[in-house]
Amino acid sequence: MQRRKVKVMGTIMMVNIFLFIVLEVSRSGGQGKGADSKVHVPSKRFWARLAPSNGFWNREQQKLDLLHNPVVTNSSGGIGVTSDGTLPFDQLPDWLNDTLGQQSCEPDPRVASQLKDYAQLPQRFKDFLTYMRCRSYPMVVDQPHICQDGPYLLLAVKSLAPHFDRRQAIRESWGRAGLLANRTVATVFLLGNATAVDHFPDLSSMLRYESEQHRDILQWDYRDTFFNLTVKEVLFQRWLDTSCPSVRFVFKGDDDVFVNTPRILDFLNGLPPDKARDLFMGDVITNAGPHRDKRVKYFIPESMFVGLYPPYAGGGGYLYSGDLARRIYAACQRVALFPIDDVYTGMCLRKLGLAPEKHKGFRTFDIEEKLRGNACVYKALMLVHPRTPQDMIKIWGWLNDPKLTCH
Ligand SMILES: *[C@@H]1O[C@H](CO)[C@@H](O)[C@H](O)[C@H]1NC(C)=O
Ligand SMILES: *[C@@H]1O[C@H](CO)[C@@H](O)[C@H](O)[C@H]1NC(C)=O
Ligand SMILES: *[C@@H]1O[C@H](CO)[C@@H](O)[C@H](O)[C@H]1NC(C)=O
Ligand SMILES: *[C@@H]1O[C@H](CO)[C@@H](O)[C@H](O)[C@H]1NC(C)=O
Ligand SMILES: *[C@@H]1O[C@H](CO)[C@@H](O)[C@H](O)[C@H]1NC(C)=O
Repeated sequence: MQRRKVKVMGTIMMVNIFLFIVLEVSRSGGQGKGADSKVHVPSKRFWARLAPSNGFWNREQQKLDLLHNPVVTNSSGGIGVTSDGTLPFDQLPDWLNDTLGQQSCEPDPRVASQLKDYAQLPQRFKDFLTYMRCRSYPMVVDQPHICQDGPYLLLAVKSLAPHFDRRQAIRESWGRAGLLANRTVATVFLLGNATAVDHFPDLSSMLRYESEQHRDILQWDYRDTFFNLTVKEVLFQRWLDTSCPSVRFVFKGDDDVFVNTPRILDFLNGLPPDKARDLFMGDVITNAGPHRDKRVKYFIPESMFVGLYPPYAGGGGYLYSGDLARRIYAACQRVALFPIDDVYTGMCLRKLGLAPEKHKGFRTFDIEEKLRGNACVYKALMLVHPRTPQDMIKIWGWLNDPKLTCH
């Protein structure tokens, strides 16, 4: 026992002496001689060659990172660039060079040969991969008036064409546009196209009527599917950037949630300005990775993505600042599309060096069953998922009941 202790002590001392020597040597090398501040440029490459990742998404991201690496693309004459500061395309290995960072809405012919199990993947993966480089679809219904007087809070609700009742319940409850607690609230519904390919009936004339009545529908012409929710996200980001630049805060969420809008306004009013600027808040999931079980809705094969997900706020609903929305939009230009929209937004946030903040008031996995009928419980929450249209109207009634007293 005693001898082991001595041995351990001896080792610790040796390590300390070694560290001391290393630090002293580097200190005297760095500044000891005073005037000599010459920078040593290594004559040989000292970093590892960029090796292709096993995941298709990861490889696409490697290309985007290379393209946006300011050291590589901007220094003239540095290692890895030509004398005019551009990428030496003829020297890049094939896997890095093909369609380097290219955006295109043509079907991508490479994908079938670039994922080893492509043929066995479910159709939604083939559809996603084939159009992964496309971020731009035509807008078919716009509402340019929505942000005319810069709303304080914009509620952006991901919906699907047939969900008429959900949208109407939201309009009549938590998504009522206008003045609330002396703040301007605006609401928009984000829609793609419910197409015949996906066996939707033709709802276009009903949708046109709804849109004329309420003037709160934004629609783009792309297939509105689960794996295209990221397309919905990037199209909305672009719309925010161009058509709603003065919005202060944005809530983005699903059409099957209940949002306690007054509680959210109350919270925002109390935010100090520096916290408000970087606000991104929701039900945050950390240390998650892709599901590898084919039967799960969120399944992602290894041939497509390797690694962990960044911290992200569950897509049921999250709250962020308009200022951050603009920065996220810029960051997302440098992130390859990923089929799960909330994870994708988390990836863009991470590019900015930020992480979403968890708030206990966002309950995307619902509250205990015995509390679901308790009005006072909702008073303290920001969001609950899932709720039916009738639930929304019922709970909104409770919250606005002047007789409701809670402690
Ligand atoms: C990149 O290089 C261009 C042209 O030399 C220059 O105008 C620009 O400011 C540089 N950008 C950065 C981020 O250094
Ligand atoms: C890389 O791409 C560039 C531009 O697309 C092309 O001119 C060049 O030949 C390619 N190089 C190789 C090695 O494929
Ligand atoms: C309501 O908001 C306006 C403008 O934001 C402000 O001038 C006014 O004082 C507010 N009224 C109350 C009662 O807070
Ligand atoms: C949407 O899909 C329908 C049916 O597939 C199609 O007729 C229509 O042109 C598409 N575009 C829009 C904007 O509705
Ligand atoms: C996404 O929408 C585009 C355009 O309509 C379509 O070609 C593609 O198949 C869709 N992707 C998925 C995964 O549904």
